[in-house]
Amino acid sequence: MAGLGWVIYNGPATQTSAMANGRLRSTCQEGHVLKVKAAVLWEVGQPLDICEVDLDEPKAGEVLVKVGAAGICRSDRHFMHGDAPIAIPVVLGHEGAGTVVQTGPGVTLASEGDQVILSFVPACGRCRSCLEGYSNLCDLHAATGANLLDGTTRLHAAGKDIHHMGKVACFAEYAVIPETGVVPVTDSLPMDKAAMIGCSVTTGVGAALYSAEIKAGSTVAVIGCGGVGLNVIMGAALASAGQIIAVDIREAQLEFAMRFGATHTVNASDQDPVQQVKDLTGGRGADYTFEVFGGGDTTKAAYDMAAKRGVVTVVGIAPWGQEAAINAVDLVRNEKTLRGSYYGSARSRTDMPVMVDMYRSGKLNLDDLVVRHYTLDQINEAYADLDNGEIGRGAIMFD
Ligand code: APR
Ligand code: ZN
Repeated sequence: MAGLGWVIYNGPATQTSAMANGRLRSTCQEGHVLKVKAAVLWEVGQPLDICEVDLDEPKAGEVLVKVGAAGICRSDRHFMHGDAPIAIPVVLGHEGAGTVVQTGPGVTLASEGDQVILSFVPACGRCRSCLEGYSNLCDLHAATGANLLDGTTRLHAAGKDIHHMGKVACFAEYAVIPETGVVPVTDSLPMDKAAMIGCSVTTGVGAALYSAEIKAGSTVAVIGCGGVGLNVIMGAALASAGQIIAVDIREAQLEFAMRFGATHTVNASDQDPVQQVKDLTGGRGADYTFEVFGGGDTTKAAYDMAAKRGVVTVVGIAPWGQEAAINAVDLVRNEKTLRGSYYGSARSRTDMPVMVDMYRSGKLNLDDLVVRHYTLDQINEAYADLDNGEIGRGAIMFD
């Protein structure tokens, strides 16, 4: 905390300096609690409530991050609508970046003052998935859900524990995060660009490069050209795919996708997207197809539009329990591969710095990706814009 000009915990100086620079609305004098503004989902189907919550100080192996920017991603929306289960109440927000302002005991992976990209799978490094190299599938992370790795929460309000989406919970001014969930950036980036690397970039570019392993010259079709789909398109372009066919139900999204490397577009709102993709690929279908919306029908379409020996990668999270009707014989006779991709099959701590370098060297167009900025108070408006199909990505910006 030294050198920041304010102190979070204890003593009269805390209150005075916090008020003086206006960064904190107030601080609690007892019990090492920070009062922070956060967007809380108290009940499924309700708008997010912007209110003050208590944030405990970081425990061993955790860091306190002052959030700089948080992306408006459809994954949070799934929880708000009840399409995906999560412990309630919860602070959502899993695509973020910020600055480490305090480290808990024993932290070695980040230091105070580091700009960090937040990873929504802070890996334990010890479970079977981690040891096999699949830290994006960490077993302890999955088992502890929207709690921190010790199974407890640092967020509380109205006498209740409040959960942390992805152990990130960055729809708040500050967040306590396991140290493996922060990836330091050398030479700082604009916060909104850094935040994108926390989800849409790593998920989308990773799906193209690490999950599907697209081969140069191949044909690609991407269903759903929102924040994540645009990154799949950028990943396909980085892999030197030949045709990159953007598929969406909104014309504005399709036009926007051309800026990120799409070579062809298919509007699925009025005509069968499977037939249109086949027509564009000489009747074969695409070598690599991606589902990046989240639905059984769009998963089936991604499967059906794949060529013989095609690789179908499902990135979008369908509503809980929804199924996709895959033709079991076609799967065999055409030797298709159907696979999922979670967090781009990436290893956050090693792959996110690669994404940073690709942005810096002009290979990833993150400048055009973020098209709207909001304050935390405008978060429900930001999600209405996502529902209304605004192009590109929105981001909440913090002071
Ligand atoms: N066919 C094609 N595109 C569709 C269809 C459809 N039937 N329905 C919706 N879309 C398009 C929307 O028009 C939008 O452009 O899918 C896109 C989804 O983009 P966003 O809402 O921005 O969602 P995003 O944040 O990109 O997330 C996509 O990936 O990580 C997951 O949980 C996330 O399931 C979500 C998916
Ligand atoms: Zn996301």
